[in-house]
Parts: sequence; structure tokens; C-alpha cells
Amino acid sequence: MIGRRRFLRESALGAGALLLARGSLARTSQFAGGVLSSGADTRIEVLPGEVLGTISPNIYGHFLEHIGGVIYDGVWVGENSKIPNVGGIRRELIEEMRKIQAPVVRYPGGCFADSYDWRDGVGPVEKRPRRTNFWNNEDDTKGAPANHRFESNRFGTDEFMRFCKAVGCQPYLAANVRSLPAQEFSRWVEYCNSPAGSTSLAEQRAASGSAEPYDVRYWGVGNESWGCGGNFTPQEYAAEFRRYTTWVPEYGHPLSFIASGPNSDDWQWTRGFFEEIARKDKGLFSSIFGWALHYYAWNLSRGRSQNWDEAKGDAVQFDVQDWYEILREGNQLEALIEGHWQAMREFDSEHAVKLVVDEWGPWYRPGSALTPENFLEQVPTLRDALFSAMTLDTLNRHPEKVTLASPAQLVNCLNSLYLAHEDRFCVTPVGHVFEMYSAHQGGQAVRAIISAPSIHYLRDDKPASFTGMAGSASLRGRDLTLTLVNPSVSETRETEITVRGASVLSGKSINLCHADLHARNTFDLRNAVTPESKDLAATGKVVRIAIAPASVTRLALHLA
Ligand code: AHR
Repeated sequence: MIGRRRFLRESALGAGALLLARGSLARTSQFAGGVLSSGADTRIEVLPGEVLGTISPNIYGHFLEHIGGVIYDGVWVGENSKIPNVGGIRRELIEEMRKIQAPVVRYPGGCFADSYDWRDGVGPVEKRPRRTNFWNNEDDTKGAPANHRFESNRFGTDEFMRFCKAVGCQPYLAANVRSLPAQEFSRWVEYCNSPAGSTSLAEQRAASGSAEPYDVRYWGVGNESWGCGGNFTPQEYAAEFRRYTTWVPEYGHPLSFIASGPNSDDWQWTRGFFEEIARKDKGLFSSIFGWALHYYAWNLSRGRSQNWDEAKGDAVQFDVQDWYEILREGNQLEALIEGHWQAMREFDSEHAVKLVVDEWGPWYRPGSALTPENFLEQVPTLRDALFSAMTLDTLNRHPEKVTLASPAQLVNCLNSLYLAHEDRFCVTPVGHVFEMYSAHQGGQAVRAIISAPSIHYLRDDKPASFTGMAGSASLRGRDLTLTLVNPSVSETRETEITVRGASVLSGKSINLCHADLHARNTFDLRNAVTPESKDLAATGKVVRIAIAPASVTRLALHLA
């Protein structure tokens, strides 16, 4: 398999996208469930009795890599910066992440992780070595600032822990399997977790400001080991995984190992790994916490190309077909979750291992960045807000399978929640979706049956259809959170909501939408796309609301 990095190196821009008006959509719509008496065209029935499982707060996790402007500029501004900071970390970022209750953050990569020596990033700052960043060889990074190309190691393990503490989230560290021996993995665990004063590494940690252990629970064992993480076969990687994770000291806190899972629909990677683990000892499954699937939606060629560069679309210039196509690509995640889950069951019949989706999001071609020197930065639009909302709804609907997830990446990168440069900062529409959806964290996912007219549009002049409404529901006591996405670019959905066996006493709706499908937030226009909140006028046995086209809605319903 060709790794993404090689695809990127062979980079060549595809043809520019056409910008079409909303009107080019075919407007036929049908309602499979028949006409509702009230004139509604969409019906949602929530079934509180059908509990799917508890939504792991960690599926609302995040990802930081030493790539482009993510760490240097995005997160780290330096202690002596005029930019407001907490111990060198951008204050506004911390404040925003607290608002969304970010539960866990993965670090330091990505592909970077398998080139990283954690020892370079600890100890006295002036003694830390400068290294060539993993991403330095890309064509697109030639004009990047020196600190993006040559890793100063100014931000390392202790600074990351400072960041996690300030945000109130758990760290998830990705260890280097490609280019460091297994012993270094154990040593990194020792540096982070050995009790105060117990080892030389605990003393080194204390000298860097933390006598107390960091108690890091989540450990990734390599990243994309099928590609940039070593080009292993699944059988080879399974053997490495066993070696790296055998008898790692726990220091009183169980460790949760996350194995490097498949790229998209690479069923062979999943089967090969699980078969090899089972061949040695099925009991080993209980020592694997997660199987990390990566899924990027990137191909907007509508079947014409599989070329990584040519088939990508533009982040901010797109037509109605591209709108539906990227959402359609994003929707594939559900089939991937179900498919890999089934492949895992062939060997791990008890499902001891859960799925982790620790890189997801749309990936467009370069060119939209607010800070053009930031490798892989793209500017999320309203379209990406819907993409992210639909993805989070998908994750919410599979609580028994998916235990942790994170989009790629938190700031100044692909599907970012925030964009930052020097003293400028903005929350993207994706960031707003994470805030709206944070209410699902830890809730009981319950089944919701959504019946809505399919969307019909022209795909290369041929009729195509797309789902008319997506969503998910979760309960905490008598409080129901219902999130809904109306992907139609033109149709309002007159919606009737019922909750079986209950009626709605009071409610609030928060809505994210905009008349322009391409709307986005920038440093100059920070609030072009922001959610609006209002009390629900209609309550009782049936709640009727109009759901605007191209919108994300969160309903907070208090049930009698
Ligand atoms: O998120 C950017 C890169 O995409 C990550 O480093 C890698 O894991 C993936 O290929």
C-alpha cells in the first residue's frame, strides 16, 4: 500500500472546482413514510427504552501533531510572548477547549510520532537538540518557517502535560515503533508514570516541574504502521505490538494500549493483525484496549480517479455536487465501523478490543489556509460543520463499539476546531459543532428513528440521492439531547418529534446555519458562522420544529 506521505510527496494540484449556485439542485423530494397530518414532512421518534450504550466522552477527543503550524503558533506561543498564554500555551485555545469539555488529546502524531525521540523533548530547554521534522521533506513545506521544518523540541512531554492540565483533559501518547526500540517505550512510560522519587526518570521529571507522576493511561503503539509507521505487514506489526506491550510496568495504574489499525477499508489489515494475535494467544486480546481506524474523506472525483492529489476538492470553493459528495464520503464511516467490528469478531469473539477512530475528517487540496505557510491547514466551512456533526452522530450511534475518537487535527490543520496565527484566533464552524455536541458526552445513547424525504440531486447529470436527515439521541435522567443534521442545501424540514412514553416539558434549540453554504469564520470575520439558541415554543407529546436547510441543530428536551 502506498502511504499518504508518498501520495503527498507526489503532489500536483487538480483542476479548480466550479462554484455553482444553490439553484442547480434537482428539487424533487419524496417522503417514504407517507404524508403527516400536520403538514410535516419529517418524523423523528426517540425510543428511550432502547438503550444502545453509554457514549464514551472520549469519542469527543482531539489530536495534536508536530506538523505545520499545529504546535508552534497553534498551541505554543512561548512564556515570554505578548500573546496571552498560560505557561507558554495559548490562553484562548485553553479557554475554548474547556468550553467543549475536551476529554482526551492524542500527541505527538501522526506520522511524526514514529520519528520522535521523546528524550529530545524533556530536560533543560537550552540543552534540547534541534532535529529535522518528519514533514520537512514535503514539497509543500519548503517555504515554511524554520520552526515548522526543524523541530526545536521546545514543546515536549512536560509542556504537553501542562497543556492537558490547563485544559482538564487526559493525555494520549503515541509511541515510536518504527525507529525506537521497545525499551524506549517502557522508559517513556517510566518517565511519565513512575512514582515521585522512585527512579532517575522520576527525578528528571521532578526537575522539570512535576514530582508527581502524570499517570498517562492511553498509549498508542505506533501510528499508521501499514505506512509511515514502518510499512509493516499486519503480521509483522502484530509481532511488534506484542513485543512493545509485553510487561510494560504499570506503576499501579493500568495502561490502555491502542494498536495501529486500518486505513479506511483495509479489511486485510484488521484480519491479518487479529488473526496473528489469536494464533499466538487469544488471551492477549484483553490487553489491547483499542484498534485505531483512520478515515479521511478526500475523493471528490465521483469515481473518476483514485489519485490522492487529483481527486481532492477545494475546501472553500465547491458546488452543490461537492457538498453532497463530501458528506457522502464522510458517511462511509458507519460502514467502516460495522465492517471492521465484524472482522474483529471473527477472532475476538467477545469484543475485548474496542474501536478507536483517532484520525477523521475531510482532506482537501492545499490553498485555502489563513496562514499559507502552515502545511495541511485548510479553512473549515459550514459544509465541514455538517460533515463533523454527521460523523459525531455516527459515533454516538455506536457506543458499544467506539471508545475514543479524534478529528485531524485540533488547530491550524485539516478539520480544525480553531485557527490561530500570532495574536489572531478564531473558532471554526467545526469548533462550534463540538461545543453543541458536548452535551452527548457520557449520556445513554438511545435509538432514534428518523424518517425524512431523501434528497435528490444531479451527480454528473445523472440522478443521485442522499439521506434527508441524520442525527443521534442520548439521555441523562429526564434530559434528552437530540442532534440533527439537515444536509439539504435548499429544503426546510418540517419536523415532528415524539419521545415514546414521554412528553416534553420544556426545551431549547441551538442551531448552526447560514444562507451561504461556503460561510466560514476567519481572523477578520470571527463570527460569520455561530450557533443561535432559543427556547422551544412547542412542547407536549409532539414537538414540531422547522429545521433549516444546510444546518446542524441540537435540541435539549426536558421530559415529563
Ligand atoms: O493528520 C495528518 C497525517 O495524516 C498524520 O500524520 C498521519 O497519521 C495521517 O496520514
